[in-house]
Amino acid sequence: HLSVPERIERKRSEALRGGGKARIEAQHKRYPGDSVVTGQGRINGRLVYVFSQDFTVFGGSLSGAHAQKVCKIMDQAVLVGAPVIGLNDSGGARIQEGVESLAGYADIFLRNVLSSGVVPQISLIMGPCAGGAVYSPALTDFTFMVKDTSYLFITGPDVVKSVTNEDVTQEDLGGAKTHTALSGVAHRAFENDIDALLNLREFFNYLPLSNKDAAPVRECHDPSDRLVPGLDTIVPMESTKAYDMLDIVHSIVDEQDFFEIMPNYAKNIIVGFARMNGGTVGIVGNQPKVASGCLDINSSVKGARFVRFCDAFNIPIITFVDVPGFLPGTAQEYGGIIRHGAKLLFAFAEATVPKITIITRKGAVQIIFRGKQNQAEAEAEYVEKFANPFPAAVRGFVDDIIQPSTTRMRICRDLEVLASKQQVNPWKKHANVPL
Ligand code: COA
Repeated sequence: HLSVPERIERKRSEALRGGGKARIEAQHKRYPGDSVVTGQGRINGRLVYVFSQDFTVFGGSLSGAHAQKVCKIMDQAVLVGAPVIGLNDSGGARIQEGVESLAGYADIFLRNVLSSGVVPQISLIMGPCAGGAVYSPALTDFTFMVKDTSYLFITGPDVVKSVTNEDVTQEDLGGAKTHTALSGVAHRAFENDIDALLNLREFFNYLPLSNKDAAPVRECHDPSDRLVPGLDTIVPMESTKAYDMLDIVHSIVDEQDFFEIMPNYAKNIIVGFARMNGGTVGIVGNQPKVASGCLDINSSVKGARFVRFCDAFNIPIITFVDVPGFLPGTAQEYGGIIRHGAKLLFAFAEATVPKITIITRKGAVQIIFRGKQNQAEAEAEYVEKFANPFPAAVRGFVDDIIQPSTTRMRICRDLEVLASKQQVNPWKKHANVPL
């Protein structure tokens, strides 16, 4: 005879055990907690709602009850203003339940969309996710994966073989490498489950709890007026010579701590989170080391999505510019570089958070003197006249020309000034960003 608290405790531990070692023997077997664990807790003292899908129960597939549990914490997260983290490991809709589980997806997707821009939503893919299970992560702000054990695909290799006759492994079709380097579906991949969870916690520390909160300020032991003498020589004078923009970013931000987003995708642009004098900032930078830092379709989309996240969650944006322009060619034009490039322009123009831009170097000028006899001379003259910071400063296009070594100090100072920035765009139902 167990007491009520003991019976509750027993039920709770039964539910937490999921499918246990024996897994499913019959499809009619019932598991008290179904295939998902949900709840709330704290990371570094800050509230977060979490759901974790349990592959040992029907492959983590989504039943009606599973969907209801997830929806419940998503609703609570919006009500109190706290992020939602999903630990995803799911074979998609519960095939035995049919339409009920599909309706459950509709409920989750709706909440993903309505929560977008209200509370941060993060997905960590920790096992195979197929079918409907891929779309909730795709609607969240960030998708992280675990190397070698997590997959995302609409249909698995068997279905692919039967429809398109392609032979492809799970790993090639939807593994971490595919999605972080090729498709751009995932934002980062980590070595194993523990590494992924630790990184997730570190990442969480950069984010505000909701769009009504400021990002957290961490105690900063890196002086805000620290000079960085190396910056005075790091950028080569010749516009054709490359350097690593990551070196510049690392040397400027607090304690060289930079949490890069999508480090293996569209490497010609760098995006990620850092702190300046303790406060979170979003960093965007052209990367002269890759394709001369040209903007193309993938880098425009990567940059635009990042800028929109920062703006939605009050995170100031610091942009390091060294760009020759958009990448020329038929592949880019046919792929819609005009439409995709417009996303980046749209995102920056729409953003009302503090925006600070550091132009580290100028682009190429060859084009206007093409074919002229004294091309080299004309170019030199042009550079002297325009391709240096002074004419831009005289015309008011730049606010100041600074010694590179003082960049950190200057950014920290300007962020302080801009902290009270209030800018509101005209009322609208929502903008129509080019897609
Ligand atoms: N509904 C119900 N049960 C499911 C399921 C689903 N959608 N997906 C997986 N399971 C069950 C499997 O039947 C299996 O049960 P068993 O242990 O009793 O045999 C268990 O979960 C583990 O799945 P398994 O296929 O053995 O794992 P895997 O690692 O080899 O493959 C997947 C994982 C996700 C690739 C594979 O299970 C799959 O393709 N699932 C179906 C995906 C899909 O089409 N979903 C429906 C459309 S949204």
